[in-house]
Amino acid sequence: MKKEKEFKVTPYEVEGEVDYSKLIKEFGVSHIDEKLLNRIKKHTGDLHLFLRRGVFFAHRDMNWLLDEYEKGNKFFLYTGRASSKKSKVHLGHLIPWILCKWLQDKFDAEMWFQFPDEEKFLYKQDVTLKDTAEATYEDMLDIIALGFKPEKTHFIIDTKHAGLMYKEACKVAKKITFSMVKSSFGFTESQNIGSIFYTSMQAVPAFLPSVLKGKNIPCLIPLGIDQDPHFRISRDVMPKLGYYKPAILHNVFLPPLTGIGGKMAASSAEENAIYTTDSPEQVSRKINKYAFSGGQATIKEHRKKGGNPGIDVSFQYLKMFFEPDDRKLEKIEKDYKSGKLLTGELKQILINKINKFLQEHQKAREKAKNQVDKFILKN
Ligand code: TYM
Repeated sequence: MKKEKEFKVTPYEVEGEVDYSKLIKEFGVSHIDEKLLNRIKKHTGDLHLFLRRGVFFAHRDMNWLLDEYEKGNKFFLYTGRASSKKSKVHLGHLIPWILCKWLQDKFDAEMWFQFPDEEKFLYKQDVTLKDTAEATYEDMLDIIALGFKPEKTHFIIDTKHAGLMYKEACKVAKKITFSMVKSSFGFTESQNIGSIFYTSMQAVPAFLPSVLKGKNIPCLIPLGIDQDPHFRISRDVMPKLGYYKPAILHNVFLPPLTGIGGKMAASSAEENAIYTTDSPEQVSRKINKYAFSGGQATIKEHRKKGGNPGIDVSFQYLKMFFEPDDRKLEKIEKDYKSGKLLTGELKQILINKINKFLQEHQKAREKAKNQVDKFILKN
């Protein structure tokens, strides 16, 4: 009998080759189907590449959110980033944030962005609060660089805005037991109590605007599926506090350079990830050296048998992120399969695309340095 491959997805561990269909069942989320995409398109006019190509593949309560929107009850957006010096922003992190920026533009939505600067401190032995504070500033530059509107975007930093958040977090925490957190995150008795409490801090921005405005406002959270366990727990709490459950859009992981199936992760070996601050030479070296190829061992063999784009990391990056033109992507796929396009040539197409993207991003990141204050929520 064929042994089923094991995999694990929690906010603190992504292991093995992720089976997303299985995850949909396990997490109890819904698949994003054509009907929902068309419903979104009715309001947005077009569909972002991440929606068209299935990078966002699952959701919670999107139909409810759109029902509310159609009744004139506008939603706000919420997502976040747990910074630490050991985990620099990579291309995968940008996926939920780019969709947020697109949704902000299309729905004219307020954006709430959380920087839980205590999270990695609590979960990782070797991370200090000074590390996370410095890294938070760096990460804010990446987010601002994506083009969010300063007048509609609010950065909240857990230790800085604790006065605003703590009371609300306590209300959430009172309704979550240790056993719920334990089974969702795989905690043991030796887990520190800060990390046991943490989920309640991540829940707060999903209803904080409702608290501040004194009325219930729907919330939409685009995020990587690894973050779902926090909200699986806290969504049940929110109605008990008188607030709506937030709707969620889940994205798959941008795979590591070394092969599809897993998650590009910043804290693992450098050959896994491309960072937003990488130079053109670093990008070129990493892709050429590490990007897993679906091509054949020799040129002669490749010309004869062709490559397999389904397992080729460079092709997957183009499909998921860097080649928005469907016709161009189709041609690349066809030529790679037929053997006309060689692995080296495919890699070069991707290198050029990433470097063009990063050149613009890094310019915008520089400019963001004198804009940070405009984004941080005034206490
Ligand atoms: P963090 O900092 O680990 O990751 C930030 C966001 O990036 C997503 N992500 C990825 N998406 C696609 N491909 C990848 N390879 C990849 N790696 C990471 C994550 O799923 C996440 O959405 N606890 C959170 C911070 C947070 C948060 C939130 C996230 C606070 N509030 C609300 C989402 C929504 C964290 O550690 O994210």
